[in-house]
Amino acid sequence: MFGKNRTAMVIGAQWGDEGKGKVIDYLTPDADYVVRFQGGNNAGHTLVVDGVVHKLHLIPSGVLYKGKRVVLGNGMVIDPEVLISEMDNFESKGIKLNMLISERAHVILPFHIIMDGMIDEYKGKLGAGTTRRGIGPAYADKAERSGIRMIDLMDTKIFREKYDQLFDLKKKTLKCLYKENIKLNKEEIFRSYVNFAKRLKPYVGDVSLEVNTAIDNGKKILFEGAQGTMLDNDHGAYPHTTSSNTIAGAVCTGVGVGPTKIDSIVGVVKAYLSRVGTGPVPTEAKNRLGDHLRERGQEYGTTTGRPRRCGWVDLVQLRYACRVNGLTSLAITKVDVLGGLKKIPIATKYKYKSSYITELPADLNLQRQCKPVYKELDGWKDISDEEFKKIITGGYKELPKKMRTYLKFIEDQTNTPISLVSVGAERTSTIEVKE
Ligand code: IMP
Repeated sequence: MFGKNRTAMVIGAQWGDEGKGKVIDYLTPDADYVVRFQGGNNAGHTLVVDGVVHKLHLIPSGVLYKGKRVVLGNGMVIDPEVLISEMDNFESKGIKLNMLISERAHVILPFHIIMDGMIDEYKGKLGAGTTRRGIGPAYADKAERSGIRMIDLMDTKIFREKYDQLFDLKKKTLKCLYKENIKLNKEEIFRSYVNFAKRLKPYVGDVSLEVNTAIDNGKKILFEGAQGTMLDNDHGAYPHTTSSNTIAGAVCTGVGVGPTKIDSIVGVVKAYLSRVGTGPVPTEAKNRLGDHLRERGQEYGTTTGRPRRCGWVDLVQLRYACRVNGLTSLAITKVDVLGGLKKIPIATKYKYKSSYITELPADLNLQRQCKPVYKELDGWKDISDEEFKKIITGGYKELPKKMRTYLKFIEDQTNTPISLVSVGAERTSTIEVKE
C-alpha cells in the first residue's frame, strides 16, 4: 500500500477506537519503522494475530513483526512503569524488542495520575471523563516547562534537581488548591524512577535524527496516530478532548519531521460511531440500536473497560476530519457489525433551532443543542465468517451491493476515496480497494 510513498500515516478520523491498530497492523509488513508521535497509555490497541489477543498501550503494534523498528516519539508522554511492563510482557513471549524511545519524550509521574482524576472530577460536566492515566497533567507540566523528559531521567543529577522542584510544587498545589495532602513517598518514587531509567537507557535516543536519516535512506515509515480527530486539543470537541494534538500535523512536532516528508494519510473510520468519555456526541444512539452496536461490536474501552457510547456515522464530523487532517484515503472498519440492520442512519447535517449546520461548530452551546439530520440507507443481511472468507478472496466487488452503496455514500460525501475495508478483527479480514 505504500507504493512509491516514503511515509504513510494512520489517523483516527472520529473519537478514537476506530480500529487504527488493525489498520496499522495490516500496513506494517510494508514498513521498516512504526512510529508513534503523541499520547501515552491512554491509548489502547487490541490486535488479534493467529487467534492470540494482544493489548498494547505504548509500544507501537509493529513490535509483533520481526525486525520492524518501533519508535516512541518526543510528542508522547510515557509512564515508564507501564512501558516496562509492556516490554516484559513481550519479552516473556519471546518477542525481541527493536525499539527507540525519544530522549525528548516527557515522563508521567505518580502525582500526574492523582491530579488527573482530581481535576477531571472537579470539572464535572466540563470534564472529559479522562482515562486517569496522568496524560493531561503531564502535558500541562510540559507546556509549563517543568516537565521531566526521558533524557533528564537518564541523568540522576539532573533528575534529582528537577524532581525535587516538581514534587514540592505539586505537593503545594495539591494542598492549596485541592486541600489534599499528597500521600506519596517522595524518595521511594525517586528510587523506582532511577531503576526504570536503568532499564530504559539502552533504548533512549534521538528519534528525529534516526527517522529522518531512515527516510533519506529509502526506508518506509508508518506513523501511528493515537486517539482521534475529535479528541485533538485544538481541533476536537474542546474541552472534552485529550491533551495532545491527535491530527496528522502533530507528527511534525511529535517526531521532528518536516511536513514535506508526509506522503499519505489514511483516516480510520468505524462504520458506525463510538466514544468513551463525556461531552456532546450528536449522533449517539441512546436506544436499543445503540445497545445493539455496543454488544455486537464489543464496544468496551481497551484501556479502562468502560462501555463506549455508540451511534451513527456523522458526516459533518467526518468531512471536518478529512479537512483538518488532509486525509488522502479512508479505511472503514467493523463494517461486519452493521450486518442484519434493516436501515442504517447516517447524519448529513445538523439542525439548530430553525437553521441547518453543515460545518462542525466550535461553539459548545451549539454542540450541545444541535440535532443530527439523518439519511437512512438500506442495510444488508448478516454475513457469516465463512461467507466473508469467500467475499474477501473475490475482493471489494464481491461485497453486498447495499454495503457498497453505504460505503460509496461515505466516499462521495467526504470526497475522499476508501482504500481499505475491514470486516473482522483478524489481520486477514481486510479488503484493499484498488482503483
Ligand atoms: P485523557 O487522554 O486520558 O486525558 O482523556 C481525555 C478524553 O479522551 C477522554 O474523553 C477519554 O475517554 C478520551 N480518550 C483518551 N484516549 C483515548 C483512546 O485511545 N480512545 C478513545 N478515547 C480516548
